[in-house]
Amino acid sequence: MALLELTDVTRSVRLPDDSMLHILTGVTLSVDAGEHVSVVGRSGTGKSTLLNILGLLDAPTSGEYALDGTPIGRLSGRARARRRGDDFGFVFQQFNLLPGRTALENVAAPLLYARGRAFWSRSRLAAEMLDRVGLGARLDAMPEKLSGGEQQRVAIARALVRRPRVILADEPTGALDVDTGGEVMSLLDEIASDTGAALIAITHDLAVAARAQRHYRLADGVLVPLTLDSPGHVTEWVGDLPVSRPHGAVTLPSGTPAVAAPPAPQHVRGPA
Ligand SMILES: Nc1ncnc2c1ncn2[C@@H]1O[C@H](COP(=O)(O)OP(=O)(O)O)[C@@H](O)[C@H]1O
Ligand SMILES: [Mg+2]
Repeated sequence: MALLELTDVTRSVRLPDDSMLHILTGVTLSVDAGEHVSVVGRSGTGKSTLLNILGLLDAPTSGEYALDGTPIGRLSGRARARRRGDDFGFVFQQFNLLPGRTALENVAAPLLYARGRAFWSRSRLAAEMLDRVGLGARLDAMPEKLSGGEQQRVAIARALVRRPRVILADEPTGALDVDTGGEVMSLLDEIASDTGAALIAITHDLAVAARAQRHYRLADGVLVPLTLDSPGHVTEWVGDLPVSRPHGAVTLPSGTPAVAAPPAPQHVRGPA
């Protein structure tokens, strides 16, 4: 049985002028435990909307979402909130760390809601996670004193401290330079694999996307499978389409950035 299963999921919102914006029109996706999946799409294609549905922050307008075979529509609000905290870890583009709190306090924060032993040993668990992301010597550092890459590593430690079964990353390298972004993604891939967590990374960066085992493109409200890793090809955005073309005789090792610098995102409003 799949860990996560979306079947024909839609999401529409009513705009102030009373028209409907159809963001997702029929998303079907199945993710097994421990799988790494990436979703690319230009800005405004509904990537964050999809991630919010996956992370139980938003509900589908129609269609079905099953977690471990249980349709989430059947869970009470309380049960949904508990699954969100127990099963999901979130990493965002803008880190979202608590200002004025140390790295250790930030990472320990999700454990305040944990029960049993995790609650009582929270400082130790948080320190272990920070050590795992290479920040064992910066436990008392304030986020504003850390570089962007370090802040994102704190955020990764925070996302993983409760050992979620799924890590949802929304443009995790979007605020970082190419090299730092690559290092942060390597760390995220590695820790997800170590802990057996599934990783769903949403990005417009094709090099980041190529690291996953399965890739999709979000366009016109649906997910389309995408090939990003054929040897000897580079994939680049051509308009709204990722296009692979032969790269002479050069074979790119997997994980090599296909594009040096992703184009700046353009905010595009979907059809009403
Ligand atoms: N609650 C909402 N109300 C109105 N418009 C929304 C709402 N949520 C998302 N949108 C619009 O839906 C489109 C997709 O948004 P989003 O999922 O954030 O895209 P992405 O993450 O791919 O940039 C955008 O045009 C956005 O402005
Ligand atoms: Mg987004």
